[in-house]
Amino acid sequence: MNNLIQKYNIPGPRYTSYPTVPFWDNDSFSKQRWIETFQQSFDESNEEEGISLYIHLPFCEALCTFCACNKRITKQHSVEVPYIDTVLKEWKLYIDLFSSRPKIKEIHLGGGTPTFFSPENLKKLMDGIFEYADVADGYEFSLEGHPNNTTREHLQMLYDLGFRRISYGVQDYDLKVQKAINRVQPFENVKQATEEAREIGFTSVSHDLIFGLPHQTLEGMTETINLTKALNPDRISFYSYAHVPWIKGVGQRGFQDEDLPSPEQKRELYEEGKRMFEEMGYFEIGMDHFALEHDSMYQSMKNHTLHRNFMGYSSSKTQLMVGLGVSSISDSWYSFAQNEKTVEEYEKSIHSGELSVFKGHILSEEDLIMRKHILNLMCNLETSWEGEKMQINNIERIKIMLEDMIDDGLIEFKENGLIVKEEGRPYVRNVCMTFDKRMIDNQPETRIFSMTI
Ligand SMILES: C[S@@+](CC[C@H](N)C(=O)[O-])C[C@H]1O[C@@H](n2cnc3c(N)ncnc32)[C@H](O)[C@@H]1O
Ligand code: SF4
Repeated sequence: MNNLIQKYNIPGPRYTSYPTVPFWDNDSFSKQRWIETFQQSFDESNEEEGISLYIHLPFCEALCTFCACNKRITKQHSVEVPYIDTVLKEWKLYIDLFSSRPKIKEIHLGGGTPTFFSPENLKKLMDGIFEYADVADGYEFSLEGHPNNTTREHLQMLYDLGFRRISYGVQDYDLKVQKAINRVQPFENVKQATEEAREIGFTSVSHDLIFGLPHQTLEGMTETINLTKALNPDRISFYSYAHVPWIKGVGQRGFQDEDLPSPEQKRELYEEGKRMFEEMGYFEIGMDHFALEHDSMYQSMKNHTLHRNFMGYSSSKTQLMVGLGVSSISDSWYSFAQNEKTVEEYEKSIHSGELSVFKGHILSEEDLIMRKHILNLMCNLETSWEGEKMQINNIERIKIMLEDMIDDGLIEFKENGLIVKEEGRPYVRNVCMTFDKRMIDNQPETRIFSMTI
């Protein structure tokens, strides 16, 4: 196993999009092209399918030193109302582009910390959204909550607004790890937040855990998983720690590189975690996720309807996803567009009556085909290039790049396709990289991705 780790532990994308953000062709992108593809996508999507909304709520009261999310640290809650007013202004700018009143199938409140906002302000946000939109059948509303500040009032308000899914950031219960990442969070807080969500009627509670954090040990990880077991979350995200200090600045420098487990130790933490989750009745979903059998994520994996977007895996797919808020990414299937990354720049553009989109990518015909293959691999661990719509021009080149993985027992070819074997699951990002034409043709000069293991 150690040889494989050394061989395949290279910087690589997590494929929440294809092409990945560093390989977007910003030169051929413009706000006007974004609006055109956005409108095309809206007109094509049928009413039943609806649209998805991602709303980024960036504020957190304290900085966790491992965090790679776009966040703004402040204790000033006076930022809440102006931020929500801006998001609603942005929503109105999009509403004016729709040819009819939209139906919303999915809403995800992400962050930062959505529960930084008061229940009243979250209600103001949702009321403002539904002033111009209806709810689609089978809708799913979800949010990310911080166990230290999610109150019963938050949960009740969000339940009344239709939210049924919540994921809590847990990371690790070991106090030494918690201190190193500046996130002291007692088990009691997670227990209370989990139990209250269930009592109120949330049907899916998920916990985020991370392996590869500073000072993490096998023993500590086993204890964290045993404590997780006691609360029986419906889903568990088991993320590989992405160490990307060059992107996020000082936030990740609250500990030394020597405090991090080695790639081999990190793999061991993952293997032990996976073994324990499976023993507890969870099924591994794609990459990073485990779910109980009743959970819709497991059901979609079974039915081959699992999807992956900027938030990670989702159990359903809409062609159009509108991202509101600072740094949010929208996806029309034919194009991606990202909002300004600082609160000030974001607010400035929206208040001048303009969308805040500052970069993006229009997908070529070839991109659209590669996007489907990468989605197939990330969601179903297999893909097929049978038929015109899935045809790959340079398949022989890809096959040569995959030869080593065949020899290492990680994948196997089927007729006009390939299957990632169970042994190959931890290396699925490496498999996708061989299909990533944009990256292969434009090899980066400096590190832009975290390591694959
Ligand atoms: C926006 S946070 C969750 C909500 C809330 N802010 C909290 O911390 O509880 C989303 C999740 O991303 C994951 N995450 C953040 N930075 C990461 C990193 N560098 N590597 C791996 N996972 C990370 C964490 O598991 C975190 O819970
Ligand atoms: S992990 Fe959550 S609370 Fe901590 S800084 Fe990141 S977004 Fe904020």
